[in-house]
Amino acid sequence: MKILIINGPNLDILGERNPQHYGDMSLLDIQNEILSQFPDDQFVFFQSSIEGELVNKINSINGLYDALIINPGAYSHYSVAIHDALENCKVKKVEVHLSNLAKREDFRQNLLTARSCDAYISGFKENAYIIAVFALKKYT
Ligand code: DQA
Repeated sequence: MKILIINGPNLDILGERNPQHYGDMSLLDIQNEILSQFPDDQFVFFQSSIEGELVNKINSINGLYDALIINPGAYSHYSVAIHDALENCKVKKVEVHLSNLAKREDFRQNLLTARSCDAYISGFKENAYIIAVFALKKYT
């Protein structure tokens, strides 16, 4: 499978950011772990903290990838623009969160972008991405 993995704002500073919620692996460590666990699949990684760049990337997916894994970071809770781009994106889509959002602040309970995805995974720290790849390979 060819899978695009998009990470949003502040996910480039994983490893130095609240390890209790987000674990202690850097984004590069996570990407290397995915590559080593799924050597027969193709991955493209994209990270941006800029909402418009994330929207542009999502809008370029159709026809190029088999599936999308996205962690929109804080945008998950309020970005109508990312919600709408995901809605138009025709591939199978899984939203992932490192932290367990159900146990966190009220403002993180609104899962706006996840409404445009096929599923979401939350609370397994870096393993959320691995679980998402497994699920996509099984169900796509
Ligand atoms: C996050 C959860 C968001 O609420 C937060 O703003 C993030 C990371 C997660 O992976 O748990 O940046 O998406």
